[in-house]
Amino acid sequence: MDDLVAGLQAGARNAPPSGIIGAVRYGRDKEGLIPLWAGEGDLPTPRIICEAAARSLYDGETFYTHERGIPELREALAAYYEGLYGRPFDPDTFFVTGSGMQAIQICLALVLGEGDEILVPTPAWPNVSGAATVRGGKAVPVPMREEGGRWSLSADDLAAAMTPRTRAIFINSPANPTGWTADIETLRDILALARERGVYIVADEIYTRFVWTGADRSASFLDIAEPDDPILYVNTFSKNWAMTGWRVGWIHAPAALRQALESLIQYSTSGVSVPYQRAGIAALTHGEPFVAANIARARRGREIVAAAFEGNNRITYASPDGAFYAFFKVEGLGSSREAAFRLIDDARVGTAPGTAFGDTGEGFVRVCFVRSADSLTEAMRRMVRFLESGAG
Ligand SMILES: Cc1ncc(COP(=O)(O)O)c(C=O)c1O
Repeated sequence: MDDLVAGLQAGARNAPPSGIIGAVRYGRDKEGLIPLWAGEGDLPTPRIICEAAARSLYDGETFYTHERGIPELREALAAYYEGLYGRPFDPDTFFVTGSGMQAIQICLALVLGEGDEILVPTPAWPNVSGAATVRGGKAVPVPMREEGGRWSLSADDLAAAMTPRTRAIFINSPANPTGWTADIETLRDILALARERGVYIVADEIYTRFVWTGADRSASFLDIAEPDDPILYVNTFSKNWAMTGWRVGWIHAPAALRQALESLIQYSTSGVSVPYQRAGIAALTHGEPFVAANIARARRGREIVAAAFEGNNRITYASPDGAFYAFFKVEGLGSSREAAFRLIDDARVGTAPGTAFGDTGEGFVRVCFVRSADSLTEAMRRMVRFLESGAG
C-alpha cells in the first residue's frame, strides 16, 4: 500500500486535501444542518437552461466536438462580454472548459513548469495552490493585510514576493473568501508589475457581477489591458446561473495562444459535451432575469448576515465589497477548524474553516450567503445564539 503511494509523482503525493471538503465530510449527514460551507446557493439551475441541454441530447448532439467550444457558444460569450465591458470581443479569444477549476488548471499548465512559482494572495480559495502543487509547481502565498475584517492587497507586496522562478500572479477580484474587490488603481499597479517582470496574470473575476459598491460589475483588467497583455482570464457558468454541478467554464485569452490552448484542451478533456455548451448559450442569452434575481438574493443575504452580527463583540466582520461570502473572526472559539466543527455539532450550521484558505485565515470562518432569506436568517440565529451561549 505504502509502496503504491511512494511510487506516485511528488505532486500527486503531496496534494493537500481541501479543508472545505474536510468540513463537508464531517457534517454532511448531520440532521437539520443548514449548509453554508460551499460556494453555491440553494436554487437549482433555471429550467430554460436545463431544457436547452435536454433538447440537444435528444437531438442527437452526442458526438465529438470542437475542442475549444462550438462557434455559437464562443459567439455568445463574445456578445455577453460586449454587453458587460462595452466594446466588441473576438469569439476566437474564448476557450470553453470543463469548469472554472479546469480553466485554472489549463492556465497553470500554460505557464507553470516544474518548480515554477505563482503568487497567490491569501486567504485564497485553496484550489489554485492545490492545482499548482499537482503540477509540480509552487503557489507562493502573499498574505493580504486585514484590519477590522477588511482586507487589502498592494502591488508592492506582490513585487516583494517575486523570485526568479515567478511565472504568474493569481488575482481573484472580487475574492473568495475575503470579498476584497480591487479598485482600478490597484489593478493598474499589478498590470504594470506583470508587464515589467514579464509574468502572466491569471485573472479570476468570476464574481464580478456580485459587487456591493453600487456598480454593475467590479473593476476589471479588461478595463485597462491591451489585447496582447499577458493576462489569462478564467471564468465559469457556476455562480451567475447556479450551474455549479454542470462543470462548464471558459478562458478568455490573447488570440496568439489559440494553438497552445487547443492542444491543452485536446489532451485533457478534448472539449465540453455539446448539450452542456447549449446550456451555456441558453444561460448567456436567456439567463439575465435569473442572474438579476440571484444577485438580489445575495444582496439580501449580505444584509441578513450584517444584521445578525451587528453589535456582537465576539465577531470581527466587515461586509464585503464583492462576492457572496462572509468571512469573519470569532474570538475565543479555538482554531478555525475547531470552530467550524463545533458550529456543525452545536449550532447545526455548516461553515468552512478559515485555515482552508491558508494560514492567514486562522481564526476566521466563511459562510456563503446566497440562500433563501428564511434559511439564512435561521442559520444566523443559530450561530449567534451558539456564540451568545458562551460557547468556547
Ligand atoms: C475564486 C473561484 N474561482 C474559481 C472557482 C471555480 O468554479 P467552478 O469550478 O465551479 O467553475 C471558484 C469556485 O468556488 C472560486 O471561488
